[in-house]
Amino acid sequence: MSYQKLIRPLLFKMDPEQAHVLVHSLLKNFGKIFAKTSSGLMYDQADLSCDLFGRPLANPIGLAAGFDKNGELTEVLGALGFGFAEIGSVCARATNGNPKPRLFRLPEDNAAINRLGLNGQGADVVCERLFEAKFSLPIGLNIAKTNDPAITGEAAVADMIYTFNKIRGLPITYVTVNASCPNTKEGIVTESDQMRLLMQELQKFNSTKIPILVKLSPDSTQEFIESIVDAAATYKIAGFVCGNTTTARDDLKTSSVRIKEIGMGGLSGAPLKEKAIKLCRSVNARKKDWQIIIGCGGISSGQDAFDFMTAGASLLEIYTGLIYKGPTLPRDICQELSLILKQKTLDKSNDKANDKIRSKQVAYTQD
Ligand SMILES: Cc1cc2nc3c(=O)[nH]c(=O)nc-3n(C[C@H](O)[C@H](O)[C@H](O)COP(=O)(O)O)c2cc1C
Repeated sequence: MSYQKLIRPLLFKMDPEQAHVLVHSLLKNFGKIFAKTSSGLMYDQADLSCDLFGRPLANPIGLAAGFDKNGELTEVLGALGFGFAEIGSVCARATNGNPKPRLFRLPEDNAAINRLGLNGQGADVVCERLFEAKFSLPIGLNIAKTNDPAITGEAAVADMIYTFNKIRGLPITYVTVNASCPNTKEGIVTESDQMRLLMQELQKFNSTKIPILVKLSPDSTQEFIESIVDAAATYKIAGFVCGNTTTARDDLKTSSVRIKEIGMGGLSGAPLKEKAIKLCRSVNARKKDWQIIIGCGGISSGQDAFDFMTAGASLLEIYTGLIYKGPTLPRDICQELSLILKQKTLDKSNDKANDKIRSKQVAYTQD
């Protein structure tokens, strides 16, 4: 059944958050049946298989944080064709998030704006669920500070450590620290001292040596990014997710009246791509070789994926693209990416052959 012709028009008639809740609950309740009949969604060639901290991945396309905030889909996400998935953000305390409406589509821009505000069931409930759950693919868990402006300074670090201590015994592959959510009163972390303290404290409690990633904001200053990347090497942070949503509203096709009506929130989808790629490049120029980059922001084609890879990302995550292109997106990205990579290898070997011919021609003309 065509998602874009049949299902999307129905979903787009609904409030965006209600549509998400519906899709999520269909996957939760019928996902196992769906998984048994949906092998067509998997990219089944070995050429894109890769590695995530020693765990083999079928492909480099992951589900970004925010889609499965409470870790209810770990058993079925593998059948949707993802190579890995990031659950969360999970916070220490359960929170309702910001008042509704708080999720908006921008169809002219293939984008979304959300100000959910880290709604979720909290670390205790999510951990209990994940201890029992079956994982159909490698899982990363994204943690954030509880959305409460009264929790600041050392209490903010303690709040994150609470969640970290809860989850680090789970069979997860990595932990992402989300210090870049624009939808809380405090907004993104802008103080590098605060981030440094957080990284130091997390590693102090990291007895299982689980790889920790930091999710950065495309809105951070170059100076902040550089200081965090340098500190991340000191504290053995395994890599970066580049990155989160933006508060910028540049160059949108959606009318300024509509944008004003929607109000605050993080913009995701196609208009975020260039900013996220710029972030990847900045991080890649400064990070250590042993640190990885997961590229994220407006990826919805093989070409987008390839652009992020040339900017330094070895793995990728998607969210908003799924709203517009539906469940075949991971497979479609893989197919196109595979063709692009094959073409580039062919071009390279042709270049080498041409170089050889050219050098022979030079030799002949010199003779
Ligand atoms: C509705 C929605 C909820 C999100 N919630 C979270 C979250 O809880 N934690 C987080 O780190 N990122 C969250 N994100 C950001 C995504 O993980 C991703 O970084 C961002 O959307 C850019 O990717 P995209 O353009 O493919 O959507 C959310 C994004 C959306 C659209």
